[in-house]
Amino acid sequence: MATTPRTATAHATSTRILTTNNHLIRWVEKMADLTQPAAIHWIDGSEEENDYLCRQLVEAGTFTKLNEKLWPGCYYARSSPNDVARVEDRTFICSLSKDNAGPTNNWEDPYVMRKKLKALFRGSMRGRTMYVLPYSMGPIGSPMSQIGVQLTDSAYAVVNMRIMARIGAPVFAEIDRDVKRVVPCMHSVGAPLAPGQEDVAWPQNDTKYIVHFPESREIWSYGSGYGGNALLGKKCFALRIASNIARDEGWMAEHMLILGVESPTGEKTYVAAAFPSACGKTNFAMMIPPKSFKGWKVWTVGDDIAWIRPDKSGQLRAINPEAGFFGVAPGTSAKTNPNAMKTLSRNTIFTNVALTPDGGVWWEGMTDEPPAECTDWLGQRWTPEIGRATGKPAAHPNGRFTSPVAQCPSIDMEAWESPDGVPISAFLFGGRRATSIPLVFQAFNWSSGVYLGATMGSETTAAAAGVLGKVRRDPMAMLPFCGYHMGDYFRHWLRMQRDLSTTPRVFHVNWFLKDENGKFLWPGYSENMRVLKWVVDRVRGRAQGKETPIGWTPHYEDMQWDGLAMSQEDFDRLLLVDRAAWRKEVMGHEELFLLLHDHLPPEMIYERELLICRL
Ligand code: OXD
Ligand code: MN
Repeated sequence: MATTPRTATAHATSTRILTTNNHLIRWVEKMADLTQPAAIHWIDGSEEENDYLCRQLVEAGTFTKLNEKLWPGCYYARSSPNDVARVEDRTFICSLSKDNAGPTNNWEDPYVMRKKLKALFRGSMRGRTMYVLPYSMGPIGSPMSQIGVQLTDSAYAVVNMRIMARIGAPVFAEIDRDVKRVVPCMHSVGAPLAPGQEDVAWPQNDTKYIVHFPESREIWSYGSGYGGNALLGKKCFALRIASNIARDEGWMAEHMLILGVESPTGEKTYVAAAFPSACGKTNFAMMIPPKSFKGWKVWTVGDDIAWIRPDKSGQLRAINPEAGFFGVAPGTSAKTNPNAMKTLSRNTIFTNVALTPDGGVWWEGMTDEPPAECTDWLGQRWTPEIGRATGKPAAHPNGRFTSPVAQCPSIDMEAWESPDGVPISAFLFGGRRATSIPLVFQAFNWSSGVYLGATMGSETTAAAAGVLGKVRRDPMAMLPFCGYHMGDYFRHWLRMQRDLSTTPRVFHVNWFLKDENGKFLWPGYSENMRVLKWVVDRVRGRAQGKETPIGWTPHYEDMQWDGLAMSQEDFDRLLLVDRAAWRKEVMGHEELFLLLHDHLPPEMIYERELLICRL
C-alpha cells in the first residue's frame, strides 16, 4: 500500500462555523481546548467535502482508490492489526450507580472515568484536524429520529459516518431549530502528532476506552478508529445510549433487522429480527425468495438496528436509524447474498479485506476460486498456496464493507425513509445453535416471547471476544449493547405490552442445526423464506401449528416445499423438541437469571416454571 508520510499541521485553522447554537459552539471550543487540534473542520456533508476528505485519506496512505471501472466510487483501507473489531472488554457504561449498569456491563464510577478520560483526551488531537460531525439517526425531522454531534480526529470515521447516517448542513439546521436534545460524542484515535512527526496510515492507541454516560447521554471513545468503536452513531448511540432514552420514553432501541414480506396479492407484513453478531442478519434482511415462491418478495428496511415505538393506535412501528450497512465481507457472495454484492459494487469503503492486482477487492467466500495472487489485509503478498501453508486468510474475518442502504436492490423504497416507520407484526429471535433448538417455534404469548428473547444464546464466533463454539447467552442479541441493567431491560419489554393494542407475535429460529457429522441440516439463505412464510401465515391467522412444550411449531404440511426436497423424516429432525436436551437448556437459563436475580422481573421466573412443567 502507498504510504505517503503526512506531517503535523503547525497552526490551528478554523473553518466556517455551521451552527448558530451557542451551546454547541461553546462545547466545541471547550473540547478543542482539551484536545488541542491543529484545525477545526465543521462538516457540511457535501460531495465536494467528501471528495476532499477521501483525497486526504489517499494521501495519508489510509485509503487506496479502487479501480474506477471495476469498483466505481470505492476505497480500500487496512487497519492496524491492533484495531480490528469492537472491544467489548474496553466498553463501559458509567451510570451514577453500578447497579444501574448491571452485571453484564463494565462499569466505572463516572467521576473517576471522567478524570481518566480528560487525561487521555488532553492534547490527544495535537497535529490533527478535529471534525465537527453532526448526524441524525433516522430520517432528518422524523419524530422517531435522534441527533448527535461527533467530534473526531479521524477523517476515516467522517467518511464512513457519511454513509452510515444522515450528516452535515441539514442536521446543523435541525440543531438550530433547538427542538431535540443533542448527544455529544467525543472521539479520538489517541495518536497526537508532534511537530514534524510522520503519521501512520492507521493511527490508533493500544489503550482503548469506549465509554457511555447514560444519565448525561454522552459518549467518549478513545484509541480506536474501527467500526463500532469509532462510528459512534451505531452501537454507542443507536443502541447503548438509545436503549436508555427508549426506556425513559416508552419505546425500544433494538439490535434488530427489519424486513417486509410481500405476498403475491401485494399484502405486506413487516418483521423485526434479533440475531447475535455473525449470525447472518444482513443475508436474512436482503433475502431473495426461492424461484418456486412466485410473486413473493422480501423488502429490506434495515440490517442491524431498529427503533420501535407504539403509534397512537397502539401499533408498534419501526425505523432503521441508520443509512448504511457496515457488513461483514467474508462469506458474502453472489450466491449467499446477491443483493449485498450489488449494494457494495459502488460507493463503498472496504476495510481489512484483500486487495487484488487489478485494483479490486476479494475476501474468503466471495468466489469459489481465490485470485491467483493478492495483498492480504496485513499488506502482505497472499496466494492460495501461502494461505494453505500458513492457514491465514487473505481478509480478516471481521473485514467490512460500508455501503449506502439506498443502493440495495431490495430496499423498501416506499417505506424505509418513512418518518413514521413501518408496522411490526412479528419479532424473531435466533442464534447459532448446532443442537437442541428447533428450526422455528412460536411463543405462546407476549411474556413467553419475552422469555424466549431473554434466554436466547449463540455459539461464539470471531466478532465477540471469547471461546469459539461455546454457547453465549445473548438476551435479545443485546448483551454487548444494552446500556443499562439487563433485568430492567426485560421488565421494559414486558411493560411495553401495556401500550399496545396488538402485540407482535414472537418466534424463535435456528438456521444452524447440524447432524452428527457436523453437516448443516437446513440449507439456509433463500430457503429461510419457507420459515418466513409460515411466520407471516401465523401472523395473518392462516397457518396451523402444533403445540409443543416450548411453543408452536409448524406441521410438515403447513410449510411450502415446492422446489426443495425435504422429507417428513428430515423435517421432523429439524423440528424435534428433545425434552432431555431442553431440560439442560433450561439450566443454562438459570445461570443467566442468577446473575440478574436482583432486577429480574418475576414474570421470567413464572415463565421458567411453566416451561419446566410443560417439559
Ligand atoms: C455488528 C455487530 O457489527 O453486531 O453489527 O457486531
Ligand atoms: Mn450488529
